[in-house]
Amino acid sequence: MRSILKGFSKLDREEKVKLLLEQQELAPQLAESFQEFLHPGKQDLFNDISENIISNYYLPFSIAPNFLINDQLYMVPMVIEESSVVAAASKAASFWAKNGGFKTKVINTLKNGQIHFTWTGNCATLNSFKDEMLELINTVTESITQKMRERGGGIVDIEFKSISNMENTHQVLIKFKTADSMGANFINTCLETIAPHLMDFINKHEELKKDNEAKTIMCILSNYTPDCLVECSVSCDIKQLKPYAGDYSSPEFATRFKTAVEIAINDPYRAVTHNKGIFNGIDAVVLATGNDFRAIEAGAQAYAARSGKYSSLTSIDINNNQFTYTLKVPLALGTVGGLTNTHPMAKAAMQILQHPSAEQLMQIVAAAGLANNFGAVASLVTSGIQKGHMKLHLSNVLNALEASEAEKSSALKHFKDTVVSYSMVEQFLNESRK
Ligand code: MEV
Repeated sequence: MRSILKGFSKLDREEKVKLLLEQQELAPQLAESFQEFLHPGKQDLFNDISENIISNYYLPFSIAPNFLINDQLYMVPMVIEESSVVAAASKAASFWAKNGGFKTKVINTLKNGQIHFTWTGNCATLNSFKDEMLELINTVTESITQKMRERGGGIVDIEFKSISNMENTHQVLIKFKTADSMGANFINTCLETIAPHLMDFINKHEELKKDNEAKTIMCILSNYTPDCLVECSVSCDIKQLKPYAGDYSSPEFATRFKTAVEIAINDPYRAVTHNKGIFNGIDAVVLATGNDFRAIEAGAQAYAARSGKYSSLTSIDINNNQFTYTLKVPLALGTVGGLTNTHPMAKAAMQILQHPSAEQLMQIVAAAGLANNFGAVASLVTSGIQKGHMKLHLSNVLNALEASEAEKSSALKHFKDTVVSYSMVEQFLNESRK
C-alpha cells in the first residue's frame, strides 16, 4: 500500500513532481510535460492562484464574433474544450445579428448571504424587530460597506426564516447589492462581522432572550441568487428561420423547435441536456472572464428546479408567425476583483468585451447561452447533432490517434460528407498505414 504523505505542500515544485512520479509509479517523461506547460514569464502569478501546483492546464481561448446585444456588437471570448461550441455560438450570433439581435434585460442584481443560528424562540417574532436589527447591521458593517455603498451597493434587506424540518434552527437571509463585483468576499466578511452582534441583540433583548442562548452555526453567502436575474430573447418572423430549417419548411422547423423546447420544459431528463447546451455558452464566457463557474452552475441549476421539478431555462412563443425564444437565468457575475483582475487572459477577455459592467456581462453571458442552445436545438430537430459535431471533433480524434499532417489532410477529404465516429477514423488510419 502507498504511504500517507505528510508535508506535501511544503515541498518545492520539483520535489512534488518527483514524489508524485515515485508514488504513482509514473514515467519520468511526465516531469517534462509538467515542465513544458509552466509559463515562462508568468508562473509566479499562477502559483498564487492555487496550491500544490506542479504545472498549468491549458484550454483554448476562442472568439465568437458578431454578437449583437441590445444593438451593440460584441466579440465574445470563450474558453471551452468541446469542439463545435464556439462554431455553433458564432453561427447563431451571425444569424441573429441579421434578425434583430439579442434583446436582454437585467431584472435584478440582488445577492444573498445567510447567517444560520440556533434559538428556542419563534422566528416570526424576530421579523417584528427587523428595522432595529437592520439598523444594527448597517452600523456594525459601516466601515466594510462604505466603498460598496459609494459604488451603489451595500446591504439592502433582511429576513428571518426557520429551517423547515428542523427545530430551533433559523437563518437571517441578508440581501446585498455588490455593484460590479461578484461580492463573495464582501458578503462573507459582512456576515461574519454581523453574526456576533445579532446573537448579542437576541440574547440581551428582554422580549427575545431565552434560557438557551442564540448561537451562530455558520455564516456564508448563498450561491442561489434567483433575484440576480437576466432575461435574453431573440425574435423573428418564422420565414427568417430558413437557414436553420434544413430539409424542413420554416414553419415546420419552428413547430419542431417549439416541440423540442416543450419536451425540455416537461421532462427533467431532457431538460438537463437542454440546459447543458445553454451552459456550453454560459460556462465558456464565465471561464474566459475569470468568474466562478461552479457558483454560476450551482445557482442556475437550482433555479431550473425552482418549481420543485427540474425544467428548461428557456421558453418559447410562436404567435402570428413571430418566433420568440427566451432564456431567463440567474447570473451572479463580477467584472472587478478576483481573477477578473489578476489572470492575464481574464483581463484580456474584459478588454475584448470593452470593460463591461457586471450587468452588461450578465447580458453577454446570457446571450452566449441562448445562442448555443438555439444552435443545438436547431440541429437536433433537423440534421441531428452528430453530423456537425463529429466533423469538428475529427481533428481532435486525429490528434488523439497521432495522425501525421498528410494523414490529417487525407482524412479531412475522406470524411468530408460523412458522419464521423472515433472507430471510423481509427479504421481509416489503420488501413492507410498498412
Ligand atoms: C452537447 O454539448 C449539447 C447538446 O447535447 C445540447 C442539447 O441536447 O440541447 C447538443
